[in-house]
Amino acid sequence: MALSPQWLDELRSRITLSTLIQRTTKLQRAGREWKACCPFHSENTPSFYVNDQKGFYHCFGCQAHGGAIDWMMGQRGLEFMDAVKELAAEAGMEVPAPDPRAAAQAEIRSSLHDVMAAAQEWFVSRLNSDEGISVRQYLERRGLSQRVIEQFGFGYAPDDKIALKKALSQFDEAMLVEAGLLISVEDKLPYSRFRGRVMLPIQDARQRVIAFGGRILEDRDGVAKYLNSPDTPLFDKGRTLYNIHRASAASRKVDRVIAVEGYMDVIALAQAGFEDAVAPMGTALTEQQIELLWRMADKPVLCFDGDAAGTRAAMRAAERTLPLLRPGCSLQILQLPAGMDPDDLVKRDGPQAMEKLLARPKSLLDLIWEHEQAAQPLSSPEDKAGLKARLMDHVDTIEHPDIKSLYRRELLERYGDFAFPKREFQPRSGRGNAPFGKQQPQRAPPHVADRLRRAVAGAFRDNLTEAVLAGLLRHPGEIHRHADSLLLLSDSDRNAAQAVDYLLDYAQTLEAGGKPPISPAGILPPPPDNTRFSFLVEGSDPDDAREDLAEAVAMLVERPGLDAAIAAATRRFASDPQGAFEEQQRLRKRKLEISERLGQMARKRAASAAEENYSSGMEDSIAGGKETD
Ligand code: UTP
Ligand code: MN
Repeated sequence: MALSPQWLDELRSRITLSTLIQRTTKLQRAGREWKACCPFHSENTPSFYVNDQKGFYHCFGCQAHGGAIDWMMGQRGLEFMDAVKELAAEAGMEVPAPDPRAAAQAEIRSSLHDVMAAAQEWFVSRLNSDEGISVRQYLERRGLSQRVIEQFGFGYAPDDKIALKKALSQFDEAMLVEAGLLISVEDKLPYSRFRGRVMLPIQDARQRVIAFGGRILEDRDGVAKYLNSPDTPLFDKGRTLYNIHRASAASRKVDRVIAVEGYMDVIALAQAGFEDAVAPMGTALTEQQIELLWRMADKPVLCFDGDAAGTRAAMRAAERTLPLLRPGCSLQILQLPAGMDPDDLVKRDGPQAMEKLLARPKSLLDLIWEHEQAAQPLSSPEDKAGLKARLMDHVDTIEHPDIKSLYRRELLERYGDFAFPKREFQPRSGRGNAPFGKQQPQRAPPHVADRLRRAVAGAFRDNLTEAVLAGLLRHPGEIHRHADSLLLLSDSDRNAAQAVDYLLDYAQTLEAGGKPPISPAGILPPPPDNTRFSFLVEGSDPDDAREDLAEAVAMLVERPGLDAAIAAATRRFASDPQGAFEEQQRLRKRKLEISERLGQMARKRAASAAEENYSSGMEDSIAGGKETD
């Protein structure tokens, strides 16, 4: 079966090599590239590099070298055609049938390129002819320089149904229809699609004209302001970004790419000195367009109008991106003054206004938080719970496990600060009790001590749970902030549930200013092996203690999920050995990371060398604690 070079080219351009390789080989960022210890030979320092722009990997140690297809053959052991089929399925491409039609189609595409080039030339000639005077005036009114007009290839399609057909008579009419330049309806002769419009060529990454956008000269009700080419063998709207061929080079230089909504925004920005702007074709960004943006920069900047419609559009882009997030790749959002597009802004306030906004774009996480917080009233407990549910719905769509847990943690923390604001404790008759200040040891009423002792007895099966509970008891001001995580914990651990209930009650009582606070020393058995957690150490820095406590809580909550996921992967072994194995490796690794982090946290404040023994003992018990497979 003969696959044309164009088809293979297209296949390669639709695959992001690092994403493919990441599935089996852990990659680290190295500037615009990725690096790893080479999967093709044994080594301890990385000499294997992946370059997404070029679509190649290269090992400086063993000289392994190739693209996506080579990777599938070399690393996954597939035959060439199988590698191609698997990649094509992923890229949403049909593998051409093994017949002469494939060759014929490649032929058609290449002649369509000729048609489009000829049409572009003709539109430009019309602009520069007498016919084009009013158009040239229009472009001038819009403040476009002659240089930009030429650079972006502006042209003019006369208001005439057959002029184009006549001018391009060297091509079959059917070709002009297939190129989207003529409209063919039954019983009528094919006629020009673009009439009386300013024409803009849309080019692919290799600078070939693949489509046109045409704008009317005077805005009128009932007439589409912009008309675009239909999808053709050359043009797939959802996989194209306007200006990609110029912006790619520019964005490599500045490590930035700006995505705006309209053609004219791209052009106005270029004239103002921002050459790294691209735009979709009047639709919301597709997944494929987001992948294209990530090939240009790690954190593309998306510009939206600051009004309600703009915010909705920004959220649509955010929602489409969350499932695609991967380490190092995100989005940034730039909100323009309400009712303005970048074209309006640079025209009114100059390039420096844009520069200023570009200096502090919003993160994806900020956008989600701010949008959901503003989306509904938040006066009742039900409203607040609704906010939390909406935030978690977003988190649930993130596929990458590490990014997902980091988003969950950050959003829950913001939600916690908002829904359970910390209140200062009232010092009672001279006994100061700031949450992180010096606490006076006090005796708790006996029934409280009893309840807690009973409640936590079952929960103290491992050091982390014990440390966190004791830490919260020591710093009751932090309990409410972690209320959500604690409730998650009680969902997964019935023993901990009672302790959590107690803690929440306790915090409430304290806030009400009622009962005197109790000291953990009076109630909990002394936990000598935990005393190196900063939040359990007398006199450690309050900020450290608060931070370490938050991290320990987050890990405590993540851990049961990991165990369950490892068990699930184990069950999947029979049906999907490869996938299950990889999943298990990944989860085990995450578990190890957690235990290492806990070890560090506990060691950070190690008081004496003797205590090191304890620390490693504790790591073992945390790492090995509840593995189910
Ligand atoms: P806008 O309506 O924001 O236009 O459409 P604009 O970019 O500000 O254009 P000017 O400044 O009035 O010339 C944004 C994009 O939406 C698509 C086009 O791709 C346009 O660039 N669009 C808009 C259409 O496809 N058809 C339309 O009728 C309008
Ligand atoms: Mn505009």
